[in-house]
Amino acid sequence: MANWSLREPRTHLFALTVLAVAGLLIAIVAGAVIALGVYNIGADAPHTRPVYALIEAVRERSIKVRASRISAPGNLDSPQRIASGAGLYAEMCSGCHLAPGMMPSELSQGLYPQAPELARHYHDDEAEAFWTIKHGVKMTAMPAWGRTHSDELIWDMVAFLRKLPTLSPDTYKTMTEAAPGGHDELMKEGNGMPGMTMPPKCSGAQ
Ligand code: HEC
Repeated sequence: MANWSLREPRTHLFALTVLAVAGLLIAIVAGAVIALGVYNIGADAPHTRPVYALIEAVRERSIKVRASRISAPGNLDSPQRIASGAGLYAEMCSGCHLAPGMMPSELSQGLYPQAPELARHYHDDEAEAFWTIKHGVKMTAMPAWGRTHSDELIWDMVAFLRKLPTLSPDTYKTMTEAAPGGHDELMKEGNGMPGMTMPPKCSGAQ
């Protein structure tokens, strides 16, 4: 028994030293990888599998947890919402996310991660779509539209996204051409973000 009580603290000390040395080595290797510029940050060099899996897990959980506190309005089927969303989508989103009948754009082809084609692949969680549109996604090209657009306009876009996969190229064209007013008109109607004004250099000039 006497032996045990003497040896135990030593065993702990040894384990702690091994852990500290291992931690230090990992930190040195990680530091060297960063300092030597080993990781290629170029958008034309895909992530390695483990990095991709890690980013995907972080993004999925981050959005899910935050979107769980959001509930969609009951009127997403409203034709006015869908029509307003159609105009906004054609103007602000189709350059990256494309649309029925649209060829890949120069912008969409160069993106990494690629912007999903929302007409083919719209994942049906409205709160998650709302959160993603409002806040954007770091280190991808997906902008935070909530900086410049009210929640109501963002729900209009979600309302349109639900319809998008069912649209033929012709219907898409008709809907977006018939959309109420232009983007600027919608914003002027007081739908824009409260307190948002155009930067002085853009106002009225031209
Ligand atoms: C400059 C390019 C760009 C523009 C413009 C853009 N997006 Fe995105 N968007 C992206 C990228 C890239 C992703 C993928 C992000 C990722 O992989 O995490 C994305 C992701 C999304 C997602 C999540 C899709 C999913 O299945 O997880 C939604 C919804 C979305 N965008 C909606 C919109 C809407 C609505 C607009 C217009 C108001 C818009 N985006 C404009 C680049 C863009």
